Amino acid sequence: MHKKGFIFDLDGVIVDTAKYHFLAWKKLANSIGVDFSEAQNEQLKGVSRVRSLEKILAWGNKTLSEAEFSGLMDLKNDDYLSYINKMDESEILPDVTKTLDVLIEKGQAIALGSASKNATPILQKVHLLEKFEAIVDGNDVSKAKPDPEVFLIGAKLLKMKPEDCIVFEDSVAGVQAANTANMISIGIGEEEVLHEADYIFKDFTEMSSDFVEGLISGDIKK
Ligand code: BG6
Ligand code: MG
Repeated sequence: MHKKGFIFDLDGVIVDTAKYHFLAWKKLANSIGVDFSEAQNEQLKGVSRVRSLEKILAWGNKTLSEAEFSGLMDLKNDDYLSYINKMDESEILPDVTKTLDVLIEKGQAIALGSASKNATPILQKVHLLEKFEAIVDGNDVSKAKPDPEVFLIGAKLLKMKPEDCIVFEDSVAGVQAANTANMISIGIGEEEVLHEADYIFKDFTEMSSDFVEGLISGDIKK
């Protein structure tokens, strides 16, 4: 039997939380007098909480004390969590559960590879946690995407070689991380944004069962 490692990003791939990160960052940025556009938000996707705030401050030309910085990080996360606490299965993105179930049924190894420190509670909320053999999140990495660390740890936990892994990502930083790790990168989202990915789909409903079969058999390559 063919076995591959399938590593899923969380925010914007499994669940529709990218919109909540956007709302929380926009509120925070505006509260300190910094404009925040959708294009800037795109640059924060896949990027850690600390790095995101650093970028927002740089865009607004602001310098803060350490205490102010950490206060704003907490504010952003509290606001984000107020959305997350209301989440349920309805916020799982289309055909994600189906894809996970097909992969499990076919004996594939499945991991989460996310920058978020909120990954486990989110997966619990939407009742998907038990589908993952390994979870690698923002609490486990020292180098953020586009560094490949998160995916390399994932491959190791799944006992798979990086070249036998496939990554699903909605962020530019994540696609770059997968490419640097020498894994097949599959962009979930817009072609214009994710053009560095090996393959791109708008969402999982567009991914045929033949394509998934091809990934498992190795007929579909990087
Ligand atoms: C990534 C998101 O998955 O996680 C980013 O794309 C977010 O937008 C990052 O900043 C960190 O998430 P959290 O939940 O630890 O603030
Ligand atoms: Mg993402």
